Amino acid sequence: MVFEFYATGADDQWTLQENQNAFSRILFRPRVLIDVSKIDLTTTVLGFKISMPVMIAPASMQKMAHPDGENATARAASAAGTIMGLSSWSTASLDEVASTGPGIRFFQLYMYKDGLDRNAITQLMGRVERAGFKAIAVTVDRPRRGHKESDIKNRFKLPPHLSLKIFEGLDLAKTDEGNNIASLTWKDVKWLQTITKLPVLLKGVLTAEDTRLAVQAGVAGVIVSNHGARQLDYVPATINALEEVVKAAQGRIPVFLDGGIRRGTDVFKALALGASGIFIGRPVLFSLAAEGEAGVKKVLQMLRDELELAMALNGCTSLKEITRDHVMTEWDAPR
Ligand code: FNR
Repeated sequence: MVFEFYATGADDQWTLQENQNAFSRILFRPRVLIDVSKIDLTTTVLGFKISMPVMIAPASMQKMAHPDGENATARAASAAGTIMGLSSWSTASLDEVASTGPGIRFFQLYMYKDGLDRNAITQLMGRVERAGFKAIAVTVDRPRRGHKESDIKNRFKLPPHLSLKIFEGLDLAKTDEGNNIASLTWKDVKWLQTITKLPVLLKGVLTAEDTRLAVQAGVAGVIVSNHGARQLDYVPATINALEEVVKAAQGRIPVFLDGGIRRGTDVFKALALGASGIFIGRPVLFSLAAEGEAGVKKVLQMLRDELELAMALNGCTSLKEITRDHVMTEWDAPR
């Protein structure tokens, strides 16, 4: 039940496969005779310096993978010098995660849980800020739960010894319909930015149209994501949607990507197509299940080593040197 909750996607899982397959259709145009004896993988995300452009996507219920859950992920992320996204449906509390030590963490916000009205969200944002989180990633591709058939067959539910810790102790509205956010809209995104001083990212943008609206709404960035193919099946692989979003953003806000990244070469391809950084979801969950904090450290180190090698073999010594000309795609005009 837990494995399939983590691994599977919506409906026919076409997008789930495509998220990875699409990377395999993008090829390199490496440059040679460049001194690659020193390679710099550092970058800056929303003003925070991190060790590499590989970050951890928010994924729910991590104590199902390992008893240390989100706390282990947080420790591994800070040891690697990168950013962790914490899910609204975390099985560790904000305080638990904060007490793992210093680290740059983003909080992923679902804004429409039953009873989660504007009062509760305001309260929650205060807690998130006090717990030292540096940005909010609002997930915008889940107005309803996607249709995952394995979860239905398995009657998936959170094991009884675990609970969702983020909403505990909030004054959740029971009757205040007027104030309740039944379905998230651009109006709510604008409102959210008035009640928090943290930068707001939109997670789950796939089109140029929504990117232009995101810029207009004043958000700090967008994450090209299809929720790990768990929501709407038959949306394109995120790597195939990336360039459209990057063009629409016109360099005014950074564009990030998640979905199907399994290799350092995938990271390189996303950067070549204009991503400012990427997030990994399932690779963290599986390594957490296998080996806890050590496993998550290992997967981050593997991606780091692979990205460094991909850069060396492509003739790039820093992330800035990775260009569109380092890749060829199916939609490129013949040279
Ligand atoms: C997710 N994802 C997700 N996203 C989000 O905004 N809030 C959440 O609570 C979760 N929970 C979650 C659970 C599990 C088990 C998975 C696999 C994914 C989506 C996640 O942030 C990210 O978009 C994808 O996981 C990226 O794709 P890959 O790396 O898993 O292919």
